Order: sequence, then C-alpha cells, then structure tokens
Amino acid sequence: MGEVDPAFIQDVEHRPKLAATHAEGIPLIDLATLSSFSPSDSVVTASDAAFKGLVAEIGEACKKWGFFAVVNHGVAAEKRERIEREAREFFGQSLEEKKKVRRDEKRVVGYYETEHTKNVRDWKEVFDFAVREPIVVPASPKDGEEAITEWINQWPEYPPGLREACEEYTQELEKLAYKLMGLIAQSLGLPANRFGEFFKDHTSFARLNHYPPCPTPHLALGVGRHKDSGALTILAQDDVGGLQVKRKSDGEWILVKPIPDAFIINVGDIIQVWSNDMYESVEHRVMVNSERERFSIPLFFNPSHYTMVQPLKELTDEHNPPKYRPYSWGKFLVARMGGNFKKLDVENLQIYHFRV
Ligand code: OGA
Ligand code: NI
Repeated sequence: MGEVDPAFIQDVEHRPKLAATHAEGIPLIDLATLSSFSPSDSVVTASDAAFKGLVAEIGEACKKWGFFAVVNHGVAAEKRERIEREAREFFGQSLEEKKKVRRDEKRVVGYYETEHTKNVRDWKEVFDFAVREPIVVPASPKDGEEAITEWINQWPEYPPGLREACEEYTQELEKLAYKLMGLIAQSLGLPANRFGEFFKDHTSFARLNHYPPCPTPHLALGVGRHKDSGALTILAQDDVGGLQVKRKSDGEWILVKPIPDAFIINVGDIIQVWSNDMYESVEHRVMVNSERERFSIPLFFNPSHYTMVQPLKELTDEHNPPKYRPYSWGKFLVARMGGNFKKLDVENLQIYHFRV
C-alpha cells in the first residue's frame, strides 16, 4: 500500500466507520399516483385521496430526513443507462485526455480531479455540465456590480456520445425536478406552481462523479460532509453504495442503500430558507472502499441567478418571523464557485451567514 497524499486525510472525528449502520433508512416514496393524476381534475376521485397521501409522505420525509428515494418517477431507464455508460467511458480515459476539458477560473464547468470539501481533498473525479446552456450569472460576487456573464459547457471529443446522453438525461430529470418542487410546495400548503417563477432561467447543473477504489477508505472520503446549496438535488447512484446521511434524530451517519432505478432526492439550502427552516438541508458525505469504483450522477436544481432567496411570506408571520435575510442566489453561487479554486482558510459562504 502506497503512501496516501495527506491532502486526502480527514480529521479523526470525520473519519467513517467502515461498518456503517444499516438501521432505519430514508423513506422510499412511490410516485406512481403522480402519473395518473392531473392537477386540473376538478372531480374528487380515489386518485385524489392517493395524491393527498403522496403529498403528506413527501412533507414527512422532508421534515424528518431531508432525504428520500423515489420509484415510478417516469424517467426512462434507457436514458439513465446511457449516461451511466458514457460516464464510465469518459472516466476510463487517460488523465491527459480528461484534462482537455478541465475546469478553471474562466470555464467553471468541465472535468475536475482535485475538488476539496472543507479543505480536505475528495477521493473522486467529476465532470460538470450546465443543464440549460448557457448558465447566466453575475460576473462578480460583489454587491452593487451588475454585469453578468455566461458559463458554457466544455464537451470532450471522446466519448462522442457523451454530450447527447447528458442532454437527453437532464431533459428528463428537469421534468421530474418540477414535479417534485410542485409536491414540496403542496406539502407546505402552497399552490403547486408556487416555486415555478424562481426557475424561469434556472442555473442548474449536473455532475458525473467517479469514486475510484481507495487504499485507505478509513481515512479519506469520496466527498466530505456537506449540505447542498441549491434548491433540490436528484441523485442517481449505482449499486456500490457509499452515500451516508446524517440522521436528524441522533446525528448517526446512515447509509443510503442503492435501489435499482430509484433516485435519491434531497432538500437543499434554498428550500430550507424558503420554508423558514421547516424543511432542513441535511448533511451528507460519501464513503469510498478499497474494492470497487463507484459512479453517481447528481443534478443540482437551482433557481435563476436574479432570485433573492428569502423565507416565503405565506410561511412567516409575527409568531414565526423570517429567520434569514434575503440573499442573491447568483452572487452566492459565484462566490462559492470562486472559492472552489482556492484552498481557503475560512469556510465557504453558507446560508447561516444570512441568519437573522
Ligand atoms: C454531491 C453528493 C453524493 C454521491 O455531489 O453533492 O452529495 O453519492 N454526492 O455521489
Ligand atoms: Ni451533496
């Protein structure tokens, strides 16, 4: 076993226990009723009761876990299989080839192999791309500077089918993201389309993750503990497993068991702010192992850059005043992206910095 670069080594309290608990896991939610229900139905039917049950389940899962898995989600299995195949093919190439589409300060999406989470290097390599191109964002994270800029995708020459596979997959996932945002809105007692206006020019991106086998899985993590800063994350994971969620009830790290064809959904920081902490964004991390490489594909569903993120008026009143000051999503995103290229001594920008 060779020496592992100390950049990967987690502090003692953050090292994973390799025998992770399989105890009570995140809820599994069946979205089948969604396809049989149309919101314009005015007649109360059996499916209406089923739909109400679904909304309640989503609300419970968001409150208790901040995470849930969905099946019968309507995303075509071929599209997922195809992007998974192309991702394997892409990461299977030489480092030199992958670096041709490497991310840098100017081109902020593409291949990257030295990502750090909380200043410890992650045992992974990634390929990021915009779901809707270009992603329009402020040119500067500073307040008062109005100029905007565009982020465009860098597609590799090989594998030649990667681009189409990515585009077709995220088109499908975008539909699922809107459905889930509708259900979450309803679970908060809001109209299904309440969040729609925030996503008109959404700044969502998707990521292909590759976690190679690691000789020291007890010391390193694929991704260190973190919360997702967007609105909602939809993750496809393969059958290897490694994602762990910090259980709200006791702070225990719980393994999210792979379920074939299911997606893992988690509430991001923005839903936490919109709901004024009713639904919390929950910490998670990724364990690696010495035997098998692992692939996963998260889609980070993010609002338009000009969205001022703040607790919704309908969910606050004098007894439950807003817990956050409004912040610009675009400025926040740009500040975070900038931070990715420096090993910072201070923590990244986080929503608690906007707490009242
Ligand atoms: C992430 C993440 C989980 C996984 O990329 O933000 O939490 O299983 N990924 O890859
Ligand atoms: Ni995450």
